[in-house]
Amino acid sequence: MNQSKLDWAHAWLGGVADKPSDDAKFIDQLKNELPVLPFLGLPFAEEMIAQLEEHESFLRGFKHMLLLGIGGSALGPRALQRAFAPGQDRPNYDGPCLWIADNVDPDWLENHLEKLVPEETVVVVISKSGGTIETMTQYLIVLPWLQKMLPDTWKDHLFMVTDTVKGPLREEVNKYGIRSMPVPDNLGGRYSVLSAVGMVPAVFMGMDWKGLLKGAMSVGRPLAQNPEALLDHPAWKLARWAYQMSEAGKSQVIYFCYIPSWATFGPWFCQLWAESLGKDGKGTQPIPATGVTDQHSLLQMFLDGPKDKICLFVSSPADKSILPIPAEVPAQWQYLSGQTFGDVLEAETIATRATLAEKDVPTVHLDMADSSAESAGKMMMLLEAATIFTGWLMGINPVDQPAVENGKKLARARLGMAGTEADAARLAAFTDIPSVNMEF
Ligand code: PA5
Repeated sequence: MNQSKLDWAHAWLGGVADKPSDDAKFIDQLKNELPVLPFLGLPFAEEMIAQLEEHESFLRGFKHMLLLGIGGSALGPRALQRAFAPGQDRPNYDGPCLWIADNVDPDWLENHLEKLVPEETVVVVISKSGGTIETMTQYLIVLPWLQKMLPDTWKDHLFMVTDTVKGPLREEVNKYGIRSMPVPDNLGGRYSVLSAVGMVPAVFMGMDWKGLLKGAMSVGRPLAQNPEALLDHPAWKLARWAYQMSEAGKSQVIYFCYIPSWATFGPWFCQLWAESLGKDGKGTQPIPATGVTDQHSLLQMFLDGPKDKICLFVSSPADKSILPIPAEVPAQWQYLSGQTFGDVLEAETIATRATLAEKDVPTVHLDMADSSAESAGKMMMLLEAATIFTGWLMGINPVDQPAVENGKKLARARLGMAGTEADAARLAAFTDIPSVNMEF
């Protein structure tokens, strides 16, 4: 396999210089925190692989998987689906279908429950906490649907991925004897795609999930096994760059993906970055963008808008073996004749990188060896580790999300949960303010 690389040639633009600093203390931090950063070394991987192999024939026996989950329990599976099992969005498809319910969308859920054939469907409920209101609401609606449609066999159409011992979902597993796999301790949603959270749907889709894990482990394990290597690790270098850029006023991070099938890694990365780093007035705003599509949408702003952006530019060699442009083309297109669709992608990739450099947008190029699952695993691990380290440099905790927890409390108060009187009063302070309406 060719090597994937970070290209730094255009990283330090816009007048921001790489300032030396004494980061040795972070080696000790890594040593201390390794036990609570299981995503890095994936110490659970071997046991998980054995469990997945046991569940494989069960999972692959269904035509449909209805995944109930949100945030980190949905964005990773969706990225893997779009990248490595894209058939469902293409004509004449007859393979396994993954339906991800990651919103409170009455129409979507009702429509799917009307149309899915229960005998052909496995419902997978994914929630680390087992208490997320959106996922639990879905479960409370889907469970009676399954029980009604399949009164004798409904348990054989359920699978849960949740905390090893605690939480309402784990209680359901224990109560009914439902098939399940654990989310290891200390593995928060946005860092969990390489656990059963992402791997159960991956197994169902029949993608190269072992390759994905292999790629991830090749990046994360050297660091987990030798924290002394931290300061030379690409994830640390990426974090230092992002941190120094934020200190210099670069407040937005573009994830610009020129591997078309990987476009949905954009939303995955953005959740990882935003929920990890937006704290205490700190952090940088992630922006997902897809090449070449967003050349005709967002790029103008990236190039000529405020000089507050940096860019993670992701590409891999384009496939030039297919889709040749015919020899006979109108005269003004003659220069394209004999080239392939891949040549066009490559030309636009280079042109955009050059334009970003001309406009002084600091850019690190994630020059991926190819678009395989193994390469994707490498990139995911690199970005997860870089996110954690950027948080350390910013002096914030990258694994919690206190501000959004607050909103969840208010929603529960609004729905009348017992013991939420104080939150209900805070909510009233908002709802009591009369609306200032302007019709349109
Ligand atoms: O990254 C996170 O921790 C969150 O986005 C969670 O994934 C999301 O809130 C869902 O949580 P849970 O898996 O507990 O249902």
